[in-house]
Amino acid sequence: MVRPLESIDRIGVVGAGTMGNGIAQVCAANGYEVTMRDVEREFVDRGFEAIDDSLDRLVSKDRLSEEEADDARTRITGTTDLTELVDCDLVVEAAVEEMDVKREIFADLDDIIDEDVALATNTSTLSITTIANATDRAARVVGLHFMNPVPVMEGVEVVVGERTDEETTALAHAFAEALGKTTWESDDKPGFVTNRILMPWINEGIRAFDEGVATRDDVDAGMRLGTNVPMGPLELADHIGLDVCLNASRTLYEELGDRYKPAYLLKRKVEAGDLGKKTGRGFYEY
Ligand code: 3HC
Repeated sequence: MVRPLESIDRIGVVGAGTMGNGIAQVCAANGYEVTMRDVEREFVDRGFEAIDDSLDRLVSKDRLSEEEADDARTRITGTTDLTELVDCDLVVEAAVEEMDVKREIFADLDDIIDEDVALATNTSTLSITTIANATDRAARVVGLHFMNPVPVMEGVEVVVGERTDEETTALAHAFAEALGKTTWESDDKPGFVTNRILMPWINEGIRAFDEGVATRDDVDAGMRLGTNVPMGPLELADHIGLDVCLNASRTLYEELGDRYKPAYLLKRKVEAGDLGKKTGRGFYEY
C-alpha cells in the first residue's frame, strides 16, 4: 500500500535548481511542508532566492497575497543532508539528468524513507523503470514531470514505469491535482509525450536557423505567430537551458535513432483516406 494523499503533509524535494525550487514553491504554496535538499549550501540558497523572486512576482500580479507568500516561504526548509528527508510522506527528485546520480539518490532514499512512501522523479527523458530498479519499492516509483516555469505551467506529466502500481499512479495524479495542476499520463518510453515531441521540434528550429532558412528571430516568429505557441523553438530552448535540451536530445537519439522519416501511421492514415478535419477523421473524429 502506498501512503495515501490524505496522510501526506511533508514533501521532500531533491535538487534546488530550476525545477526543484519551482516544485518546492508550488508544494509550499498549496499547504505542504517541504524539505528541499541540494548537495551544496550555495545551491540551496540560490533555490531560495529563485523562490523569493517567483513569490514576489506572483504577489505583484495579485496571484498570491503577501501573507500567502510568507506562509509558503516559511513552510520550506533547506538542507544539504539527504537523511533530513526521513519524515517525508512523498519525495520528488529533481537532481541532474544523469542516470547514475539518480539511481544513487533513489537507493539512498529507499534506505532513509518509510517503505510505503512514493518516490517520484522529475526526469525529463530517463527511464523511470531503470531508476526504480535501484530501490526495493519499484511499484511505488513514478514519474512526475513538471514543466518549466513550474509555478506558471498548468500541466504535469505522470509517467508510469514498468513496475509502477496503479495506486502509485493514481496518487501521482491526485497529488499533482492537489497542487492545482492538470495531468496527463505517459508510458515509460524515451522522452515520454512531451520531450519526445518537443525536442525534435527544437532541434529542427535550430537546424532551420543554422542552415540559413531564416534568421533566428524569423524562425521564432514563424512558429510563434504562425502556430500560436508562446515561444519559438530558439527562445524556448534558451528558456529550458541548452544543456538540458542537448541532454534530452542525446537520450532520445540513443534510444530512438533517426526520427525524420515520415511516421508510418501518417502514411497509413492517408492511404485510408483519413486526412483530418476535412474528411471528418484523422487522429481525432470531427
Ligand atoms: N514565477 C512566477 N511567475 C512567473 C514566472 C515564475 N518563475 N515566470 C513567469 N511568470 C509569470 C509572469 O509574472 C506573468 O504573469 P501574468 O500573466 O500575471 O502577467 C506570466 O507568468 C507570464 O510571464 P511574462 O509576462 O514574463 O512572459 P510571457 O508572457 O512571455 O510568459 C512564459 C512567460 C510563461 C514562460 C511563456 O512564455 C510560456 O509559457 N512559454 C513556454 C514555456 C514552456 O513551453 N515550458 C515547457 C518547457 S518543456 C519542459 O519544461 C520540460 C522539460 O523536461 C524540458
